[in-house]
Amino acid sequence: MNLSPAWYDAIAVRTSQRRYTPTPLPDAAAARLRAFGAADGSSPDARLTLIDSDVDHLFTGVFGSYGAVAGAPLAAAFVGREGCEGAVGYLGEAFVLEATTLGLGTCWIAGTFDKERTGGILALAPGERVMALTPVGKPVERRPLGERLMRRAVKASGRLSLATIAPGIEAAAGGEAAGGNAAGGVSWPAWARTAVAAARLAPSGANRQPWRFRYDGDGLVLTRAAKLYWTAPLDFGIARLHVELGAAREGVSGVWQPLAEPDVARFVAD
Ligand SMILES: Cc1cc2nc3c(=O)[nH]c(=O)nc-3n(C[C@H](O)[C@H](O)[C@H](O)COP(=O)(O)O)c2cc1C
Repeated sequence: MNLSPAWYDAIAVRTSQRRYTPTPLPDAAAARLRAFGAADGSSPDARLTLIDSDVDHLFTGVFGSYGAVAGAPLAAAFVGREGCEGAVGYLGEAFVLEATTLGLGTCWIAGTFDKERTGGILALAPGERVMALTPVGKPVERRPLGERLMRRAVKASGRLSLATIAPGIEAAAGGEAAGGNAAGGVSWPAWARTAVAAARLAPSGANRQPWRFRYDGDGLVLTRAAKLYWTAPLDFGIARLHVELGAAREGVSGVWQPLAEPDVARFVAD
């Protein structure tokens, strides 16, 4: 997939939005999202489809609860082959960030949607599953009380510290500035630090932030937290896109090498 530099800037702006004004999308934005779905949005492992009628009925969250979504004129369904959650997370987050650059609200919804109804609309191929949806639209100006309470309950605006998700990263930064390696380990290059900072802001199911990182000299290793929420396979795909966007901001591209559990993959600069 071609990464848009604007997606990096969208990372800091994006937050989940669950309540929308029921106005149609501006034509240009709708056309851009349709083009994204057609051009960027498909591989054998993961694809996305836009749904523009009866959108409210796709979401099953009860008012005031996690996952209650209302008013959006459009939804995107993220579909993948069983076992390809990472590819779906990566693709879906690219779509979410693209929508963010267009000034639109989104919200990953992997739990509280009607799987039967959505699957029926999409004509799934054998082995495919709708793994998540996002509403897309213009969010209401102020989040309703129920959503604000729910965000507080999952601490949606908070993120784990850099030191928690990437032990040694801050000491390594200080060490490098002083011309050495204060951590006594491997120095983190600037691209890896920007990549981790970008991943730290990513959305995750119930904001559990299952990602951890280390720099092992060969590349940036994405590994997992000790306790995982069930959305973690999607979350890791989302984090991979954020890592690539952070690295690209520093002029670095690379490839992912799959790793055995408990690690997920290593990003190695070209
Ligand atoms: C894979 C995934 C699944 C999610 N599923 C749901 C969901 O079913 N219902 C919901 O209300 N929010 C869901 N969320 C949104 C998260 O709760 C939200 O991203 C997190 O609390 C951080 O808040 P933020 O997106 O505003 O930064 C999901 C997020 C991700 C990444």
